[in-house]
Amino acid sequence: MPHSATLPTKLPQDPMPVFEDWYRAAREQKVQPNPDSMVLASATPDGLPAARVVLCKKVIVAPGYVVFFTNYDSRKGHELAANPRVAGVLHWDSMSRQVRLEGRVVHCPPEESDAYFSSRAIDSRIGAWASLQSQPLDSRATLLKRVAIEAARHGTAPTRPPHWGGYHFWPSRRTVV
Ligand SMILES: Cc1cc2nc3c(=O)[nH]c(=O)nc-3n(C[C@H](O)[C@H](O)[C@H](O)COP(=O)(O)O)c2cc1C
Repeated sequence: MPHSATLPTKLPQDPMPVFEDWYRAAREQKVQPNPDSMVLASATPDGLPAARVVLCKKVIVAPGYVVFFTNYDSRKGHELAANPRVAGVLHWDSMSRQVRLEGRVVHCPPEESDAYFSSRAIDSRIGAWASLQSQPLDSRATLLKRVAIEAARHGTAPTRPPHWGGYHFWPSRRTVV
């Protein structure tokens, strides 16, 4: 449902600044459960869709892209390598707002992925080495064993795994409602 009261009276040519305002407001108001969660839809080259939640870590108004991070070796990573076309939705229910994005992704420059990786909590950094994202796991014990092995291997300063990094999602079509 459009919520025109929250849109500027004169609608801007480019909705990215409104998107950034809404994104910032949701983060400042600590909208639950995650103000920066974005449903990201990918598709195989023959058009089979899949969607999942990722965290939208940055909104860059100009030139106009958003950033998320993941495992390049995950199901989504493989799908995006084969077909970079994606759609994303950020939804702030309590604010009656959504932002819809449709466009393409490219890998972040490695330095940007390194910088974000090193800002993450140590458990998340070890987890990036230990987790085989999207692959079936036989038990929690197996995961904990992998975590212990990777923690022993990397110590307190794990570097970014080559299979982990970010994407710039360039929406050619963006809608705020
Ligand atoms: C609130 C929330 C935030 C998430 N954020 C991320 C994220 O930023 N990156 C990521 O790779 N997975 C994230 N996940 C996990 C994904 O939803 C998904 O399960 C995982 O990436 C595997 O997806 P795939 O098999 O389609 O590749 C998040 C899940 C939830 C519930």
